[in-house]
Amino acid sequence: MKAIVYNQYGTPGVLEEQELEIPALPPDRVLVQVHAAGVNPKDCLVRKGKFRLFTKKDFPKQAGYDFSGRVVEAGLRVDSVKPGDIVYGMLNGWKGASYAEYLVARPGELSPMPDNLTFSQAAAVPLAAQTALQALRDIGKIQGSHHVCINGASGGVGTCAVQVAKAFGARVTGICSSANTELVTRLGADHTLDYHSRNILEQDRKFDIFFDVFGNFTFKAVKQVLKPKGIYISTIPSPARFLKDLWHRIYPSGKKERLVVVKSRKQDLLFLKDLIEKGKLTPVVDKTFPIARAREAHTYVETKRARGKIVLSIMGS
Ligand SMILES: NC(=O)c1ccc[n+]([C@@H]2O[C@H](COP(=O)([O-])OP(=O)(O)OC[C@H]3O[C@@H](n4cnc5c(N)ncnc54)[C@H](OP(=O)(O)O)[C@@H]3O)[C@@H](O)[C@H]2O)c1
Repeated sequence: MKAIVYNQYGTPGVLEEQELEIPALPPDRVLVQVHAAGVNPKDCLVRKGKFRLFTKKDFPKQAGYDFSGRVVEAGLRVDSVKPGDIVYGMLNGWKGASYAEYLVARPGELSPMPDNLTFSQAAAVPLAAQTALQALRDIGKIQGSHHVCINGASGGVGTCAVQVAKAFGARVTGICSSANTELVTRLGADHTLDYHSRNILEQDRKFDIFFDVFGNFTFKAVKQVLKPKGIYISTIPSPARFLKDLWHRIYPSGKKERLVVVKSRKQDLLFLKDLIEKGKLTPVVDKTFPIARAREAHTYVETKRARGKIVLSIMGS
C-alpha cells in the first residue's frame, strides 16, 4: 500500500511516499481502507520531534491520526463494526498511520461517518471537532446562557468551536484576523475581534469561557476578561499547565485554568455526527492535497494561516 513515512525528525522534506505491507489485523482492531486523512498541527509537531519523549526514535514512522474510509475487515473479537461500514475517526496516542491506503484502528476510535459529508470533509472533523467538544462541553460545562470567547476562531479547531458553542446556544465572540471576520461570522459568531487592530483584553465584555485555541494568551492575562467563575481553557500542554489543570480540578472555585487534551471516543464522534447531520456543524476545508503532496500540506499547516482544515486525499475522494 501507499503510505507517507519518515526516517528522521525534521522539516516537511523528511516526508516520503513509500510502498508498505498492508498492516496485520489484531483480533481487537479493524482494518480501514482510508479515503482521506486530516492534517493537524499535531502531525507537524510529531514530525519535527517535539514530542520525542513519547514518540521515541524507532524509524521509519508513519504520519497522521485523522481518517475517513471504509472498513474492510473486523478482528475476531470486534462485533460493533463490520466490513463495508463507512467510518471516520482519529487514532489515539502517538503512533501515526492515517496518511496511508490502509490502517488498523480500535473500534472505540471511530464511528459511522456523517451521511451528508464527503470523505474529505469527514476526515477534517475528528481531532479538531472532538477538541472543541471536549473543551467546551466537558471542561467548560457550556450552557446556553454563557458568553464564550474563542481565540483562533478561523483555524481547524476554532471553526468547529464557534459552531459547537452556537449549537449549545451560547453567545460567541471569535478572535481572528480581519481577513477571516466574514468566515467566523458566517459560522455563527455574534461578535468578532481582530487581534491586529486592538488589545483583545482591553474591552468591556466578560466571558464564562475563554477558549484559547491558538494558545498565545495566559490565564494571568485573561483573568481580567473572565466572569467571577469563568474558565480559561488552553490547547497548549506544558508541565506547569498539567499541574494547574489538576489543581483547578481539585479546587474548582473562582476563576480557573484548564487544559484540553483530546481523546478519540466513539460516543463523541456519534455526537458530532448528529450535529453535522442536523446542519449545526459543517467542516470548513481550506485545501485538499493528494497524498503525494503531503510535504506541501505540512508546509501550509505550518504557516498557521489555514482557514479551517487541510486534508489529504488518499483515494482521490
Ligand atoms: N491539546 C490538544 O488536545 C489539542 C488539540 C487540537 C489542537 N491543539 C493545538 O491547538 C492549536 C490550534 O490548532 P488548529 O488545528 O486550530 O490550528 P490551525 O488550524 O493551524 O490554526 C490556524 C489559525 O490560526 C489563526 N491565527 C494565527 N495567528 C493568530 C493569532 N496571533 N491570534 C489568533 N489566531 C491566530 C489563523 O487565523 P488568522 O489567519 O485569522 O489569524 C488561522 O486560521 C495548535 O497549537 C494545536 O497543536 C491541541
